[in-house]
Amino acid sequence: MTFWFITLLLIPDLVWGWCLPLAGSTACPAFAQYYAGMSKPAFDWLQPVWNITAFDDAVHNYVQTTFWDQFNCTTKPYYARYTMSVICQLIVNENDDSEKCNAMYQVSPPSLCQNTCNQQVQAVKTLVQSQCQSTMPSTTLSNYIDTYSQQCLVDPALNATASCMLGMVNEPDYCGFPSQGDGCTYCQSSAANGDLCCSKIACDGGDHGLSKGAIAGIVIAIVLCLLLLVAAVFYYRRSKSVQQTHYQSADDRTETACVGEKLSTAPSFLSRTDYQTHDTITPAALRDTDSVGLISKLENEFHTVIHQYYPSQPDELSLKKNDIIVSTVAFDDGWGVGVNITTGQKGAFPLICVTPASREVLDWY
Ligand SMILES: *[C@@H]1O[C@H](CO)[C@@H](O)[C@H](O)[C@H]1NC(C)=O
Ligand SMILES: *[C@@H]1O[C@H](CO)[C@@H](O)[C@H](O)[C@H]1NC(C)=O
Ligand SMILES: *[C@@H]1O[C@H](CO)[C@@H](O)[C@H](O)[C@H]1NC(C)=O
Repeated sequence: MTFWFITLLLIPDLVWGWCLPLAGSTACPAFAQYYAGMSKPAFDWLQPVWNITAFDDAVHNYVQTTFWDQFNCTTKPYYARYTMSVICQLIVNENDDSEKCNAMYQVSPPSLCQNTCNQQVQAVKTLVQSQCQSTMPSTTLSNYIDTYSQQCLVDPALNATASCMLGMVNEPDYCGFPSQGDGCTYCQSSAANGDLCCSKIACDGGDHGLSKGAIAGIVIAIVLCLLLLVAAVFYYRRSKSVQQTHYQSADDRTETACVGEKLSTAPSFLSRTDYQTHDTITPAALRDTDSVGLISKLENEFHTVIHQYYPSQPDELSLKKNDIIVSTVAFDDGWGVGVNITTGQKGAFPLICVTPASREVLDWY
């Protein structure tokens, strides 16, 4: 019993000075590095809040419902532009507890720009007149709204004109309006008059032509189509060149063709001991198997053609640069027997014209 009594007495002390970090808040994202004092918070409805999720829920609920009670509304307007920014300011900047918290963590939140405050008051006025159906007599209501407007002049948390926080920083979507439609109606009206926030909102057509978002979408679509077209043409030409240009012009033969002396040079991927230097360039393997030795082990059975080869005998493979050859047999006279899987041909080919295929090539196939 005594224990519980003492604990109950201590609770206020434990709770005193409790600071809620606003990091991760969706209602007050611009205040992420600041703190809300929660022992004696700026609003009573913050009392039961113990974490940022509950904080956000409480703020959202307040600005959409309870906020309108002060005007004695019978039907509640949905949300007045930048009200969340105003409420966040009052919580963080207009409360002794919060002031202590922010001082303790050595941060000083900026006040709201007076311009944003005026825009909020203007939105409140419009909504009260059009949607609130207040029970107050009209003169009382208009006096109350005048008093409410005064906060933009006299409240230090809301009346800053320099180094201040703009509403669009805390509510970057839709210019502080509850929906894109509302934001666009505003941005396309003369009231917007170059309001910076309008550059952040994508609005459809109307008399203003295509929005930036729509234009960006169309440009992206066109670029994608062009890329697909280029890819298709590339792929078509690639398969076509494999099929049809295998014996192209005589000019091709001079440049990188695998002819003459090259054929008697040892391929780099065969060890010296495996290789006999032969003067002949004919593939002995297929004609005179007694005169050549089999190289038992080829490191890699996939090879990429690095030099063109134009067959001089019917049993020889035609090789074009980048063809893939699967060779299972190689002979020490520098010739191998395999299948050109790019063309489907089978036959003998000079090993010097190919090199073991790289990983990327194998992945491609
Ligand atoms: C946050 O606090 C509320 C009560 O205020 C509780 O219901 C909820 O589970 C808490 N959420 C987390 C993530 O702690
Ligand atoms: C407005 O509502 C409050 C209660 O929310 C009430 O006390 C007050 O009398 C009302 N004022 C008018 C003028 O109806
Ligand atoms: C803001 O309000 C304070 C307190 O009423 C006042 O001293 C200050 O001059 C006001 N600032 C501006 C820019 O109006």
